[in-house]
Amino acid sequence: MSPAIFVDALQDELQSIQYGQDPPELYDPIRYIMSLGGKRMRPLLTLMATYLFTDDWQKAVRPALGVEVFHNFTLMHDDIMDQAPLRRGNPTVHEKWNGNTAILSGDVMLVNAYQLLLSIESDKLKLALERFSRTAAEVCEGQQMDMNFETRWNVTEAEYIDMIRLKTSVLLGYALELGGLIAGADAETTRHLYEGGMNIGVGFQLKDDLLDVYGDPAKFGKQVGGDIIANKKTFLLIEALQQAQGSIRDELTAWLTRTTFDKAEKVQAVTAIYDQLGIRQQTEVRINEYFARGFANFNEVNAIPDRKDLLIQFTRQLVERES
Ligand code: IPE
Ligand code: IPE
Ligand code: MG
Ligand code: MG
Ligand code: MG
Repeated sequence: MSPAIFVDALQDELQSIQYGQDPPELYDPIRYIMSLGGKRMRPLLTLMATYLFTDDWQKAVRPALGVEVFHNFTLMHDDIMDQAPLRRGNPTVHEKWNGNTAILSGDVMLVNAYQLLLSIESDKLKLALERFSRTAAEVCEGQQMDMNFETRWNVTEAEYIDMIRLKTSVLLGYALELGGLIAGADAETTRHLYEGGMNIGVGFQLKDDLLDVYGDPAKFGKQVGGDIIANKKTFLLIEALQQAQGSIRDELTAWLTRTTFDKAEKVQAVTAIYDQLGIRQQTEVRINEYFARGFANFNEVNAIPDRKDLLIQFTRQLVERES
C-alpha cells in the first residue's frame, strides 16, 4: 500500500462533494479554498489509522474529508483573525472577496463538515460526533488564547503548549482517533492514536512557527514573518523574551511595543535577534522531542503488522516539511 492510493481516493471524493450553488458568493469561496490543495494531512491520518486495523479503509474517506473541510473552515476564519494575505500561495478568501464572505462561507463549511461525518456507520456515529464537537470547541478555545496572547508579554512556555494543543493538536489527535473508531478499534487503542496525534500536533505547530520565520516564501505558501508582525507569542518569541539580555532585550521590547513600523524591517530585526540567540536550533530540538513522543505513542498501538510503518513514515516527513 502506498500513500498515493489514499491521496487519490481523497481527491476523487473531494471532486464529488456538492457544497451548494446559490448564492455563489457563499459557495465559491469554499470551492476556492478547497481547490488550493494543502497537505491533506488530517484526512490522510484518518485513512492510515483506519488501515491499521482493516482493509476496508474506503469507508473512512467521507468522514476523513469532514475533518479536512473543518480544517479549511478554521483556516478561512484564522486568516481573518491573523490578517493574513496569503494561503497556499494564493490570496486568502477575505482578501479575494471580503471579511463577511469569509465569515459566512466558513460557517457553512462547519455545517458541511458535519454532513460529511454523518456518513459514519450508525453504531459509531454518536461517539464520533460527540468527540468531534468537543474537539471543534477546543480549537476555538485555542484560537481565542492565541488572540489573547498577542497583547500579553509574560506568556510562559507551558501556557503556549496548552494553547497549541488546543488550536492545532486536538484536531490531529481526533483525525487519528476517528480512523481507529471507524475501523472498530477499542478505546485503549484509539487513546494511543489520539495521544500520538496530540504529540505530533505540538511538534507540527512548533514547525509551523519556525517556518513562519525561516521558511522559503516560494515554498511556504503563507506570508513569512506574519507572526513577528502580529507579536504572536510563538515558541520562538517566548524563548527570545526569556533569554535576551541587555541591549538585545531592549531592542526586542522596542520592536514589540512600536505601533507604527515598517513590516519588513521589523521581521528582519526580530529574526536577527532569534539568530543571535540560537532560537532556531532550540526550536528544532523541541520539534524532534514531540515527534519522538508521538512515535512512541504509535508504537503502543496494536495494529496489523507493518501497517504502522506507513503511518510513521508519513508522519516523519512532517518534521522536514517546507510548506
Ligand atoms: C495550517 O495547517 C494550520 C496549522 C495548524 C499550522 P496545515 O499546515 O496542515 O495546512 P495545509 O492544509 O497543509 O495547507
Ligand atoms: C492556526 O495557527 C491554527 C488553526 C487552528 C487555524 P496559525 O495561525 O499559526 O496557522 P497558519 O500559520 O495561519 O496556517
Ligand atoms: Mg492563527
Ligand atoms: Mg494564521
Ligand atoms: Mg502559523
